[in-house]
Amino acid sequence: MTDVTPGKHHLELSVFPTSPYYARVHVQRVLEGWRRDDLVETAQLVISELVSNAIKAHASSSAATEAAAHASPEHIWVDLYPVEEAVVLRVWDASRTPPVLRVPDLDDEGGRGLCLVDLLARSWGYYRPASGGKIVWCKLVSISME
Ligand SMILES: Nc1ncnc2c1ncn2[C@@H]1O[C@H](COP(=O)(O)OP(=O)(O)OP(=O)(O)O)[C@@H](O)[C@H]1O
Ligand SMILES: [Mg+2]
Repeated sequence: MTDVTPGKHHLELSVFPTSPYYARVHVQRVLEGWRRDDLVETAQLVISELVSNAIKAHASSSAATEAAAHASPEHIWVDLYPVEEAVVLRVWDASRTPPVLRVPDLDDEGGRGLCLVDLLARSWGYYRPASGGKIVWCKLVSISME
């Protein structure tokens, strides 16, 4: 999971508000191709949150000036690959800032995305490839296997 090369099923996306939608469509197509319809809903939720975070990170950090070998800093990428019965989703962005799991108060406006990921994923985390940016990943398994 420390590999940085985008896999066969990767999709490069602009840092743009419509990108979570395209990431959802991509994840659905790939999972249906693998006959993993059982994971589509969860994977779509999770990828939406991770891509939204990647876009926000770009907007609020110096990501635009951070070097990245695998994509222009104006882009992010997503990919997914199977590991036995699980599927790993990854989202790369140009920011080195790590994601932080928060415990939001009832009246907090944000801070729920990673809570959701934490609830739905078997495991998740991030790493910073030497070539730049970071990758947030999460591993999903079918609920029936939990
Ligand atoms: N890809 C990322 N790059 C940099 N920081 C991140 C990234 N993802 C998450 N974070 C940090 O982790 C915090 C928690 O993320 P989370 O998705 O839970 O909440 P949010 O994005 O602030 O709000 P919400 O998802 O509810 O709209 C973010 O506020 C941000 O500071
Ligand atoms: Mg979020």
